[in-house]
Amino acid sequence: MYNEKVMDHFENPRNTGVIKDADGIGEEGNPQCGDIMKVFIKVKDNIIEDIKFQTFGCGAAIASSSMATELVKGKTLEEAWDLSNKAVVEALEGLPPAKVHCSVLAEDAIHRAINDYRKKQGLPQWEEKSGK
Ligand code: FES
Ligand code: FES
Repeated sequence: MYNEKVMDHFENPRNTGVIKDADGIGEEGNPQCGDIMKVFIKVKDNIIEDIKFQTFGCGAAIASSSMATELVKGKTLEEAWDLSNKAVVEALEGLPPAKVHCSVLAEDAIHRAINDYRKKQGLPQWEEKSGK
């Protein structure tokens, strides 16, 4: 039911693991299925220098996490914040309709990691949906 690109990211997920001295950490769970994603970021000069994730979830959640981390690595915090789950699904060349919501996990966890970083810097939190 998954396309080749999704299977590739599911079987060989990029950027898995933990960053011990992370500048920001974000965790998000899906209350419907109990799946969890945790994201670690290293930030330098407003750029996401490194990102790693741990996802305990379905194939779609893992593939989305892998793709999302690829898409935001090397980007500014603003660009990373603007990454939507829709863009992740597009980059994966589609998910089965019943699995599209699984990709929201990655977007949300990245947002939380960015806001965790901002909090540690004494910066105001960015708000969901309404931009920054
Ligand atoms: Fe369980 Fe995605 S939340 S199917
Ligand atoms: Fe839970 Fe997909 S089944 S995120």
